[in-house]
Amino acid sequence: MSVSLRSLSKRFGSHAALSEVSLEIETGSFFVILGPSGCGKSTLLRLIAGLETQDGGEIDIDGRRVAGAGFHVPPEDRDVGVVFQSYALWPHMSVEGNVAFPVESARLSARERKSRVERSLETVGLDGFARRKPASLSGGQRQRVALARCLAQAAGTVLMDEPLANLDPHLRQTMEEELAEFHRKTGATTLYITHDQREAMALADRIAILWEGRVLQADRPEHLYRRPASERVARFIGRAAIWDGMLDGVSGANGTRRAEVRCGPFRFAAECAGSVDQGPARIVLRPEDVEIATEPHAVNARVESAVYRGGFWDAALAVEGMATPLVAHVRQRLTPGETVPVSLASGWVLPIG
Ligand SMILES: Nc1ncnc2c1ncn2[C@@H]1O[C@H](COP(=O)(O)OP(=O)(O)OP(=O)(O)O)[C@@H](O)[C@H]1O
Ligand SMILES: [Mg+2]
Repeated sequence: MSVSLRSLSKRFGSHAALSEVSLEIETGSFFVILGPSGCGKSTLLRLIAGLETQDGGEIDIDGRRVAGAGFHVPPEDRDVGVVFQSYALWPHMSVEGNVAFPVESARLSARERKSRVERSLETVGLDGFARRKPASLSGGQRQRVALARCLAQAAGTVLMDEPLANLDPHLRQTMEEELAEFHRKTGATTLYITHDQREAMALADRIAILWEGRVLQADRPEHLYRRPASERVARFIGRAAIWDGMLDGVSGANGTRRAEVRCGPFRFAAECAGSVDQGPARIVLRPEDVEIATEPHAVNARVESAVYRGGFWDAALAVEGMATPLVAHVRQRLTPGETVPVSLASGWVLPIG
């Protein structure tokens, strides 16, 4: 099912939790909302689920209006499954009881209900745990109960609010794989909330960056990283040096446009959007753009720091005259204080405005 949000706004007293949020979430996609704490992620999810009412804007689920001016379809009539930020399991109920809970109200035979619960527990690898109480489970297992409960509902749209936030890194990785699998199996349109960009990149078809209640950019993960629409997105996603430069010429068609860039002592070609023209510009330089060079016109940089990350050194390379150091991933050992020749292979020219 598709989810469509148009100019959605929500205030709490004088605080604007969401301002004019518009998003199109395609049927069957895995859509991630990424943003720092307090930016409005849970509020957005609660609006879509029908647990809050908006102050302005509209929500359509599968082409059907579920929220608009003076109009509100209750949560149980939206065909939306939710995995909450805290798993929200009933402590007095068994695992089985928790998973069966949302199915109870559905018009199903006792047998069909039982088989749905069993299948859901099997899917998350908890078939032997039906009679246990949540208190006797690990964090990861509790998380899986919450997922099974969502699965049992067989909802067309699934909303997940930071479901992995409380897990240790190793378990997170395993659960990420399970979530991707869960999505493949159910085919449900998934709206997934996180403040962890690594997790967002790993799971998403598309990511919307939410910042102080507004969407900064909604795009494919690799576009957010390679072609950020603003300096704020460039700084929020991944690491980069952002330098002032001069564009001497711009060529190519939309999508493959390239600019001839001068940045301090460097000359190189960078990618740019259709709106970019000659003149002064801000250039985003990712670690992939920075190469240790042997060519005669390479520029000397001083190693400020170098940290081994397994397989490569993560280095800050200072270039004379440039305000901030380049961030580089280098395969050879570097020692702080030494000088290395550097060239720039590419970059991204930030769109104006
Ligand atoms: N019921 C409420 N009453 C008043 N203010 C609220 C309420 N719910 C949320 N807020 C405020 O709205 C803003 C957005 O809250 P929200 O829970 O959506 O953030 P979030 O992005 O989910 O953050 P986190 O990553 O910490 O979970 C916050 O400033 C929060 O304090
Ligand atoms: Mg939240």
